Amino acid sequence: TPEPGPDYSVTFKPLGDKIVADTVTVPEGYVAEVLYSAGDKCVIGSAGYMGVPQSYPATETQSGGQHDGMHFYPLEGVDPNQGGLLVLNHESLDNSTLDVTVEGVKTRLSNVGVSVVEIVRDKDGKWAVKTDSRYNKRYTGNTVYNVGGPAASVVGATVVGTLNNCASGNTPWGTYLTCEETTDNYLDPTQAETGYGWVVEIDPSTPGSTAVKRTAMGRFDHENTAFMVDENNRVAFYMGDDGTPGCIYKFVPSKPYDPANRANNSKLLDEGTLYAARFNDDGSGNWVELTVGKNNLIVGAIDPGNYTQVAPTDVPTNTLIDFNSQADVLINTKAAARVAGATLMDRPEWITVGVDKTVYCTLTNNSSRRRTNAANPRETNRHGHIVRWNERGNSPLATTFEWQLLLLAGQDAADGAASNITGNIKGDEFSSPDGIRVDPKGRLWVQTDAGTGTSVTSIFGNNSMYYIDQKTGESKRFLVGPLGCEITGIAYTPDLTTFFINIQHPNAAWNTVRAGGGDARSATVVVRRQDGKPVGA
Ligand code: FEO
Ligand code: CA
Ligand code: CA
Ligand code: CA
Repeated sequence: TPEPGPDYSVTFKPLGDKIVADTVTVPEGYVAEVLYSAGDKCVIGSAGYMGVPQSYPATETQSGGQHDGMHFYPLEGVDPNQGGLLVLNHESLDNSTLDVTVEGVKTRLSNVGVSVVEIVRDKDGKWAVKTDSRYNKRYTGNTVYNVGGPAASVVGATVVGTLNNCASGNTPWGTYLTCEETTDNYLDPTQAETGYGWVVEIDPSTPGSTAVKRTAMGRFDHENTAFMVDENNRVAFYMGDDGTPGCIYKFVPSKPYDPANRANNSKLLDEGTLYAARFNDDGSGNWVELTVGKNNLIVGAIDPGNYTQVAPTDVPTNTLIDFNSQADVLINTKAAARVAGATLMDRPEWITVGVDKTVYCTLTNNSSRRRTNAANPRETNRHGHIVRWNERGNSPLATTFEWQLLLLAGQDAADGAASNITGNIKGDEFSSPDGIRVDPKGRLWVQTDAGTGTSVTSIFGNNSMYYIDQKTGESKRFLVGPLGCEITGIAYTPDLTTFFINIQHPNAAWNTVRAGGGDARSATVVVRRQDGKPVGA
């Protein structure tokens, strides 16, 4: 059993079952306050959405929609528990804040991407966006991005736009990695589809810089990134492909990162080795290298396709695919992983690396699963599960690992539910784990993105956030979102007295500006304790 962090217990009183309130519900002694909503002022001079639907170019200065992955960065010269930069993704559109009769395409494209906002805390402990900060910046679907790595030769030196900015990660050198989740959602006919589906590196502390698409990390339905560092500053980045199904990847830059000179890390993500994970049924695992010429990645390779959706007796639809170059491997990473023998998982969402270097990944659900294996054990997996592994020697450079299932989500066996929807959670039940992060105290937090129809909420309540005991698998419900939302994004100040959580796609009366509502907006909320002590402790 992995060893959790130095101080991983919690003391909050868990929330009750089946909460379907149209508000953010938190434990006794806690408050939840809206900090930054879709349409709010971002860039200096922005007027912000005030109830009147907005169009391009004003939308380029305002918060995008559908807040998702997020990270908090200290600022030089500022007490990091009193202020810093909050960087967050906008996965999709908050339509009701937009007037798409003017510059319809550009207006929509400016509602996705990333916000960088400086935030400050007042003497009462309340947080606010500093609307006159020179750091405040939007990266949108209309912004120009540089392209780095081996596939730049095909993609081009620059690309206009980022899309489907789902979850994210940070790097040891203080940059932000926004992840483009869907490669084929809304193709811009003016641009080759190879422009999307990448990890994009942003330097929030240098507002004049241009973000870079890092093609060496592969093109797939990127969920987030999480890193592990060793004593020699070698780094691995773990990444999920939220495909139905998809693989789990890691990217190991060829060189160590330089903790002393930040500029030396500016091309670190352009050169390295990409791997995909094979989860063997005996609990062992292999990182299969996705390098052209290795592991059958050759001209005339056989791609078995999505064989997990057909009956075990049926033959996969083998098709031929040519890998002529590493650019081919990186542009067709999903196929490369299948060819190389990686395991197709039940929609890998977030990955997190614990303080004890155990790696966790949420597998949110996969109703289409027909062929099972030990790592994806349920047919018609409606509620998902969480897998964890330890690298050999806890090294980011390892090519083998040992894995186990932390838990199967779903209903209690005592409910008499069918086996595919019965889980083994001890404590508070949930469905469809998505966001996951181990905080610096070693505490594991999980957020859910289950269906929001009454057939789901009558069992589990609204989407929620949980503390999970890593040894026992016991679950404690910490926060429940308003109607229709998913809970995503986990960030915090270094002293853990403030947590930042995102409420995505609320659909009712919560957080509206217009009289009478109708514009329920995605938002970042601050969660803190009334007594000012660390969250959860
Ligand atoms: Fe955008 Fe996979 O959640
Ligand atoms: Ca997600
Ligand atoms: Ca999801
Ligand atoms: Ca979402």
